[in-house]
Formats: sequence, structure tokens, C-alpha cells
Amino acid sequence: MYRISELGALVGLSRTTLLYYEKLNLICGKRLGNGYRVYSDRDIQQVRLIQQLQSGGLTLAECKSCLESKLDRSVLKSRYDELTQEISRKQTSLALLSSLLGESSSRSWHQILADVAPDAHIDWLKIQGFDEKQALRIKWLSKDMNEHDKYMQDFMNVYETLESWGPNSESDTVRAFQTLSINPRKILEIGCGKGNSTMLLARLCDARIVATDNEQSALDKVEDKIKQNNMGERVSTQCISMTELSFGEEKFDVIWAEASAYVMGIENALEKWKSLISENGALVFSDLVWLTETPSKEAIKHWKSDYPDMQTVDTRKLQIEKAGYNLQNTFTLSEQAWKNYYEPLEQRLNEVGPTLAGSQAVTDIQNEVALFKSHLGEFGYQFFIAEKC
Ligand SMILES: C[S@@+](CC[C@H](N)C(=O)[O-])C[C@H]1O[C@@H](n2cnc3c(N)ncnc32)[C@H](O)[C@@H]1O
Repeated sequence: MYRISELGALVGLSRTTLLYYEKLNLICGKRLGNGYRVYSDRDIQQVRLIQQLQSGGLTLAECKSCLESKLDRSVLKSRYDELTQEISRKQTSLALLSSLLGESSSRSWHQILADVAPDAHIDWLKIQGFDEKQALRIKWLSKDMNEHDKYMQDFMNVYETLESWGPNSESDTVRAFQTLSINPRKILEIGCGKGNSTMLLARLCDARIVATDNEQSALDKVEDKIKQNNMGERVSTQCISMTELSFGEEKFDVIWAEASAYVMGIENALEKWKSLISENGALVFSDLVWLTETPSKEAIKHWKSDYPDMQTVDTRKLQIEKAGYNLQNTFTLSEQAWKNYYEPLEQRLNEVGPTLAGSQAVTDIQNEVALFKSHLGEFGYQFFIAEKC
């Protein structure tokens, strides 16, 4: 026979807990003539049986009912489901901590933040020591602050030789330009890439053009083209972020942004760039949009992660009007614009892909090309020609 303190030492429970068990009739001590309660080997086993049931996550009340009657499968099943969910939550916590410690990929974390807290995400990345260009590239490209440098190295390896960094075609650019109701004297191009549209605009009118991008290697190519075409008098480049344009009020008749405004968000761009445009001037931009109300699951999944703010044409129209512009014209870029982009891209992937085996950047680009080929039509690039009111 054991006194309560001895029983407690054997099973690792406090006196108070054992008295509570006794109150619930889970154990049953005998009172001796001297008033002490004593417990038998059977009580020790009973407590150990309860402890085993508790290790399955059952509450004391559930243990009691298991001991007193046949197992209730529904109780066990619901504890099982709860525990499964708890483990999954804990695994998510572990994965997040490991990624924040730099020990594993932080992709899913950045993908979620880009969707639910896009601006706070960028600010937080800056606090972590990334500059704006890196923060935006983490958001849009690598989605992983731990593997970012390697990702960008592979990404640029694929893209550096390509002329088009986005879907565009001369005929679409000409069509958008011809819709303008003014003859621009000064154009600001934002996110000009290697300057395909810059040079075309320079041929289409005699405006002064300032072509901007935050990637100097691309601007170097634009500079080469400017020299080759003797356009240095009218066309210049500037390495500057689209979020920090400090040219002064109403300095440009037209802002031209092909496949670039998405970087800072279309609504943000509509608002922030407006003051740079002169009276009756226009903002011309192209943006990836949904072209159907019922896109496929694959397309939704892909763009939810790669462009969470993708909208339908009608939604963009409303945003344009709301921001104080008159939509002059809008049209979907031709299939040729896509081909100009992804055919050389695919060819480049075939060239360098094998040397970059296992690269996340290559996998992402391959997935994007595959999606273009199989689901184009559900989404597309759309030109918007919006006059400032
Ligand atoms: C999809 S590419 C489009 C390039 C070009 N307009 C075209 O259609 O081929 C996007 C361009 O935006 C530039 N870009 C990205 N972030 C930027 C930023 N914060 N400020 C300025 N340009 C940026 C990229 O370097 C790239 O040249």
C-alpha cells in the first residue's frame, strides 16, 4: 500500500491532481484507522492507464468515459482530426521559423505576403537590409530572400541576351501611339527594358524621350541603340526607379509604360504618375489582364502566385476613371506580341537550361512559357490609353 505522496512520486503527479482523480472516482484510496489514505498497486496501474490515454490527446473527462465504457469512436476521431490540424499548424510554424533562420526556402511566406500585405511586405524586406530594387525583385521574381542572389543570377543568365523582356510588338505599339489625340513633345518611358518601344516611339514622332528603367544593363543597350541611330539629341536614358520619379509637375505630355506598371501596382502608378503628366496629356500602359470570367484552375493558381493583383479589363477601366483619367482606347495585344516574347525565351531556355539544372529560376520561366502556350486567351496583355482629365 502507498500513501498519496508515495503514489504521486511513482506516477509523477501532485497530491492535488491525485485528489482530483479520486473525486472523479478514477482511483479509490482506503482510509486507515489513523486517517491516512492509502492506495494499491491497482491504483498505480489505473493512473498509468489514464496517462497512456492522455498521451493520445484525450481530456481527463474523455479518459474517464473510455475507462467506464466501450471506446467512443466519434470522440477518438474528433481528437484525431484536431491533432492532425494542430500538427499541420505546428509544421507551418516550423517551416516559417526555418525559412526566417535562412535554413530553407522562404517562397511560400513571400507569396502569401505579396498577396495579403503587398506594401508592408516591401517595407519589411527593406528593414531586413534589401534595397528597393532587390525587395521588388524578391516580390516579383525569386519570392525567396534566402536564395535571391542565386535566383537572380540564373534569371539574368536567361534574360540578358533577349531583346524583349515582355510581350510587345511594333504594330501594337504603333496602334496605341496612333490613338493619342495629341502630338507629344515630351515622353517619359517607364520600365523601358532594352528600348524596343523607345526607338519605335522616337521614329513615330519627334518628341524628346526620357527612357527610364532601374536595370542599368538594359539601359546600356538602349544607349547603344540611341548612338547607332544618332538620336542622342532627343532620346536619353535614366536609371531610376518608377517609384521615385522626381521630374517635377506636368513635365511630360505622355507617359509610356509597357509591361512595367504592375511592378508598383496599377492603381498606385495611376495615382503617383499623374502629376508628371501635362494638361491633356496621357498615360499609356500595358498590363496583364483576365480575358475571361471563367479562367482555368491552372491559370488562376499560376497568376494568384505570380500576379495576385491581376484584374479584368472592366476592373482596370473603373480604376482608370476613378483615378481621374478618361479612357481613350483599350485593346488586347496581338498573339504576335506574345510570340515575340516567348519564342526567343524558349530558345534561350533550350540553350542555357541544361547548364542550369535544378535552378528555380529556370523552372519558373519554363512553367510560365508552358502556361502561355496552353492557356493564352484566358489572359492577355492589354493596352490602355488614358488621358488625364
Ligand atoms: C516586363 S519588363 C518590360 C520591358 C519593356 N517595357 C518591354 O516591354 O519589353 C519590365 C521592365 O521594368 C523594369 N523595372 C522593374 N522594376 C522597376 C522599377 N522599380 N523601376 C523602373 N523599372 C523597373 C525592368 O527592369 C524591366 O525592364
